[in-house]
Amino acid sequence: MTTTTTTTTGTVLDASGVTMRFGGLTAVRSVNLTVGSGEIVGLIGPNGAGKTTFFNCLTGLYIPTEGTVTYKGTVLPPKPHLVTQAGIARTFQNIRLFANMTVLENVLVGRHTRTKEGLWSALLRLPSFKKAEEASRERAMELLEFTGLAAKADHLARNLPYGEQRKLEIARALASEPGLLLLDEPTAGMNPQETRATEDLVFAIRDQGIAVLVIEHDIRFIMNLCDRVAVLVQGEKLVEGPAEVVQADERVIAAYLGTPFEDAPGQEEVAEVEAAEAEAAGHSTTEGDAK
Ligand SMILES: Nc1ncnc2c1ncn2[C@@H]1O[C@H](COP(=O)(O)OP(=O)(O)OP(=O)(O)O)[C@@H](O)[C@H]1O
Ligand SMILES: [Mg+2]
Repeated sequence: MTTTTTTTTGTVLDASGVTMRFGGLTAVRSVNLTVGSGEIVGLIGPNGAGKTTFFNCLTGLYIPTEGTVTYKGTVLPPKPHLVTQAGIARTFQNIRLFANMTVLENVLVGRHTRTKEGLWSALLRLPSFKKAEEASRERAMELLEFTGLAAKADHLARNLPYGEQRKLEIARALASEPGLLLLDEPTAGMNPQETRATEDLVFAIRDQGIAVLVIEHDIRFIMNLCDRVAVLVQGEKLVEGPAEVVQADERVIAAYLGTPFEDAPGQEEVAEVEAAEAEAAGHSTTEGDAK
C-alpha cells in the first residue's frame, strides 16, 4: 500500500462557513473545509448528509446561501464553467457522459476550457485550429492511457461497462488540467478489483500535483487513500482529522449506525425476548400446539 505522508505547501481550496438552504431545509450548515496542495481529503457521511450539495456549492452549480469558497486564494465565481477554468474539476455521483460520443470525444469535450481557439477558427478550420486540435487529441490520448482506457478510445461511451464509465468521467475531468479534483463516489458500482485500481489511480493523480477531495461510502477505500477525513452529518461537519482518528471516533460510529433511541431495550430485555423466541421455536416443532 502506498503511504500518504505528504507535506502541505499551501491551501488549494478554502471553503469557509458554507451554508446551503433549500426553503426550510438546511442541507449544508456552516461548513469549513480546506484542502492543501498534495493532499487527498475524504468527505464521508450518511445518505442525505449534504456531501453532494457541498460539492455543488464548491463548483458553482449552487450559489451558497452563506459562506465563501476560494481556490488558491481567489474567491470563486459562482458559475460552473468559470470554476472549471479557475482549476477545479469534478466527477458526478450520477455519471454524466455524452453517451453517444466516443470515449475520446468525451475527453476532448473536457478540454474545451483549456483550448484558446475561438469559434471562427474552428468553423473556418484555420491552421491554428488544426494545430490546437492535434495537441488536444494527443493530450486526450495521454489521459486515456493514464486511466487505462486507451484501447477503448473509439468505443461509444454508452457501451463501456459501468466501472469504465466512472474512469472516463475522471479522464474527462483531468482534461481541463485541474489543480483540484473533486470525486463524488468514484467507486460506486465497482467490483473490489476496480475499486483497488481506482485507489491507485487517485494516488497517481495526487502524485501529478493535483489535490483531491473525494466523497465515498466505501470506508476502506477512504481510509486507505486519505490524508484527512471530514465527516458530514445532517449538513454539519461533525469530525475532521487523520483517517485513523476519525475511524475510531465514537460520534462517527454512532452517526453511521444510528444512535440508540430513547426506549431502546437494555441487555435484560433483549435476553428475555431471546429466551421467549427460543422457547417459541422449540414449540413450533410440535406443530399445531403452539397456540
Ligand atoms: N436541489 C435541491 N433542492 C432541494 N433539496 C435538495 C436539493 N439537493 C439536495 N437536497 C436535499 O439536501 C439534502 C442533502 O442531499 P445530498 O444529495 O447533498 O446528500 P449526500 O450526502 O450527497 O447523500 P448521498 O450519500 O445519498 O449521495 C437531502 O435532504 C436532499 O434531499
Ligand atoms: Mg451524494
